[in-house]
Amino acid sequence: MLTLSIIKADTGGFVGHSAVHPDMMAEARREIDRASASGLIIDGHVASCGDDISLIMTHTYGVDAGLIHSFAWDTFRNTTRIAKELGLYGAGQDLLSDAFSGNLRGMGPGYAELEFEERPSEPVICFLADKTEPGAWNLPLYKIFADPFNTAGLVIDQKMHAGFGFEVYDLYEEKRIVFDCPADLYDMLMYIGAPARYVVHGVRSKTLGETAAATSTQRLSLIAGKYVGKDDPVMIVRCQSGLPAVGEVLEPFAFPYAVAGCMRGSHHAPFLPVPVEQAHPSRFDGPPRVVALGFQIHDGKLIGPRDMFADPAFDRAREQANEIMDYFRRHGPFEPHRLPLSELEYTTMSTLTKQLANRWTPMTTVIATPVG
Ligand code: 13P
Ligand code: 13P
Ligand code: MG
Ligand code: MG
Ligand code: MG
Ligand code: MG
Ligand code: MG
Repeated sequence: MLTLSIIKADTGGFVGHSAVHPDMMAEARREIDRASASGLIIDGHVASCGDDISLIMTHTYGVDAGLIHSFAWDTFRNTTRIAKELGLYGAGQDLLSDAFSGNLRGMGPGYAELEFEERPSEPVICFLADKTEPGAWNLPLYKIFADPFNTAGLVIDQKMHAGFGFEVYDLYEEKRIVFDCPADLYDMLMYIGAPARYVVHGVRSKTLGETAAATSTQRLSLIAGKYVGKDDPVMIVRCQSGLPAVGEVLEPFAFPYAVAGCMRGSHHAPFLPVPVEQAHPSRFDGPPRVVALGFQIHDGKLIGPRDMFADPAFDRAREQANEIMDYFRRHGPFEPHRLPLSELEYTTMSTLTKQLANRWTPMTTVIATPVG
């Protein structure tokens, strides 16, 4: 069995929260080369989206493997060191703990991992996002694996017609459920339509019995109990031969749907599909970005990547996203651009509640008319 892991962290931004410094990328690549040379991993690729570094790795240790997670942790410690040397912004931002213990669960870095038997041809897409939360994958996963208006194969491919099982996490109560789609479609949408709380963790083909997709599902603010930046999630989707075709997997991103994140992690903004070289959110620390790296995996080797959104067919989504961004921005501090109070990552509300306690009075109180 082969495992494909994407492990990612923001260990410092260049400039502000917009990108990763080239010296940090070089350090991560040196580490990945060392890990391939030593035989820890079969192959690896270092990529970034915004200020987050992703280590994309193939290996044979399975998911949640201590050896692989501790390698990623050490690599992120090294890139943090460089970020500190250069005085980069938020050095070590996503490393929430001082010491590694066992695996990365609850430690800050995000990870999506899939274990599978490599098929004769194994096309996968690795999606990396910046300035948003893991629930951002809910809408495209629904479209890819459950919406026949997106995915023709659900109707016309014999191996897809039976549908897919969706594993959904409730991040507030730390419990999970599997929805059997299409039968459970309407039930599932009641939950995953609320992506701040309910997040699709994985998708499985009913016909093939194979896991087709995995996402990183942690929410940093729920781990840390305070705002420490957005989660900037990643996702792996396997394609073709009874799973959705590559074009069906990319298609949802032709619609720049609104996600939570952007400035201070506290605003709705359109999700902008971009080529790798444009994955550097600047305007209002956004709009949130998504890149898609395509690989063919062969004998465990990552053949690629191909930069899948470097395609003029996504230009219209990009134009639309810019219009939507203008529209949202003009709301300034008003919802629905600003997130509802319960979801704000930054807030002055608790201080204000104390400060203004005496000035709030019952609505029946007569307030003296201001002089003038
Ligand atoms: P496969 O069944 O070979 O994956 O064919 C799907 C396809 O490539 C259509 O675009
Ligand atoms: P990151 O999670 O990408 O560091 O973003 C933090 C932020 O607050 C941007 O305004
Ligand atoms: Mg950052
Ligand atoms: Mg980030
Ligand atoms: Mg972040
Ligand atoms: Mg073909
Ligand atoms: Mg074919």
